[in-house]
Amino acid sequence: QRSISRHLSCAGTIAANFGSEEQPPGGAETGSEDKIPKKRFFEVQEERREQAQRTVLIHCPNNINEKKFLKYLSQHGPINNHFFYESFGLYAVVEFCQKDSVDSLQNGTHIPKQSAEPAIPFKSRFLNLKLKNSSNQIPEQLYAQKTNQSPPSSKKLFELLNCAESIDDQLNTLLKAFQLTEENVRLRHLTCSLIEDIAAAYFPGCVIRPFGSSVNTFGKLGCDLDMFLDLNEVGKFDVHKNAGNFLMEFQMKTVPSERIATQKILCVIGECLDNFGPGCVGVQKILNARCPLVRFSHQASGFQCDLTANNSIALKSSELLYIYGSLDSRVRALVFCVRCWARAHSLTSSIPGAWITNFSLTVMVIFFLQRRSPPILPTLDSLKSLADAEDRCILDGHNCTFVRDLNKIKPSGNTETLELLLKEFFEYFGNFAFNKNSINIRQGREQNKPDSSPLYIQNPFEMSLNISKNVSQSQLQKFVDLARDSAWILEQEDKGQPSPSSKQPWGLATLLLPPGTVYTSLSKKRKKPVSEKVKGLLESIKSSTTDSSKGTRGK
Ligand code: CTP
Ligand code: MG
Repeated sequence: QRSISRHLSCAGTIAANFGSEEQPPGGAETGSEDKIPKKRFFEVQEERREQAQRTVLIHCPNNINEKKFLKYLSQHGPINNHFFYESFGLYAVVEFCQKDSVDSLQNGTHIPKQSAEPAIPFKSRFLNLKLKNSSNQIPEQLYAQKTNQSPPSSKKLFELLNCAESIDDQLNTLLKAFQLTEENVRLRHLTCSLIEDIAAAYFPGCVIRPFGSSVNTFGKLGCDLDMFLDLNEVGKFDVHKNAGNFLMEFQMKTVPSERIATQKILCVIGECLDNFGPGCVGVQKILNARCPLVRFSHQASGFQCDLTANNSIALKSSELLYIYGSLDSRVRALVFCVRCWARAHSLTSSIPGAWITNFSLTVMVIFFLQRRSPPILPTLDSLKSLADAEDRCILDGHNCTFVRDLNKIKPSGNTETLELLLKEFFEYFGNFAFNKNSINIRQGREQNKPDSSPLYIQNPFEMSLNISKNVSQSQLQKFVDLARDSAWILEQEDKGQPSPSSKQPWGLATLLLPPGTVYTSLSKKRKKPVSEKVKGLLESIKSSTTDSSKGTRGK
């Protein structure tokens, strides 16, 4: 029980952060709890794609007058939506009502006059607005209002968590603070759409689709942007004339394998992004990876992008996670909490290596929720049994069929609280027989491990693959130790410790404190009572006023 005074004293802070300007961001995509039927994954993706095609990105002077800017742009047609954000300069995302307006704007846009450095005349939807008379001062209240695209700092997060009323409230607060905002979702789709324009120079009709945490409902502000080049759409709408005895085909180059084709395609797109892609920097071609990719930074949006090709199974697994994330409001809250917890204790990292990934953690939470009694989430096999003929999907010989209509899935009768689930999650995996069992969300039960990898999580579609093959024994042990410690800390909270004084971190805040403070593996040496440890931690929070958003960014 938390005091009402704590709640009242903090109410203002919460209103300021999640106040009226915070839109509930679009249905199941970001998990708002409305009763309207939830949209299918592909409907959401198609809507976002079409919206992005009517949108432009404009680099603006800092002292821009928002009203005049909008008036200037609306000469090309009505504007449906716009927002500003800061990322090494001021940027505007402007969505027109009609696509024609973008063409009109581009037609009225100049190629920059020869400056000190010669420019490559590539016309895109990423534009630069200049003031003809830049000395014109305008009052500050006319400046553009900026939206925030970054996750909260640790300091801010701890303030928010300490203001919450209960641990359940803390989990929901964490979710709201870290989930992708409506604007961030738009910016992600726009970035893909801009890259699509570049790829289309080689492959007209291609589609660049976002996948992974940008679209699977588990994305945190600051997460990378995974995208893939879908060439299956090329020629889909061509009208084939099969009359008579003739069939006409394109002459095409052939290569020895799909992998080589993917490498060749990504190689030229990578070159293209590097040479002509406005705002694309640090392009790296990682073509010998199991899944070849081009990695680059999209400077204006601030996204770290991973571009792959021929990767429709990953899109299907994003759709599956979207379904799991949309079925029950507890799922995302728990996944966000576990992801933040793992990041805070350096169990995950933005550098590839022997660490657990966010994707693996998400699948572990899903598996845990399938194991509750009654289950909170259905198994993949039961989602498959609900599928109809139209849901049938075979990709590269793998059966990826499952029901896609969320409204056909019966809600769970389980009413356990988030606090209980979090504690049980830590207890479950703190005592899981990782040495002999594997995790399998298809059947929703443990199975014998097929090989000696320390952590074995079966890929739901490519069933011979282990999605956590990279995880070392020592990283797994660290996860287990931290899970046990966290279960124990939550147990103590239950018993009323630490005392609920408004300044002391409690509940989730205690679990998310930086490493090296609370966690000296309590499971091995439980010497000090938690309250004493928490006092020490409070000191460390006070002294760390630096923004540690670094710790919550990335994977
Ligand atoms: N993926 C996979 N098998 C893996 C790793 C990744 O199928 N071993 C797929 C998953 O669909 C995953 C996507 O690739 O969602 C993107 O991978 P990654 O960026 O590592 O994970 P995200 O889910 O996007 O999480 P993060 O926020 O950490 O980027
Ligand atoms: Mg990702």
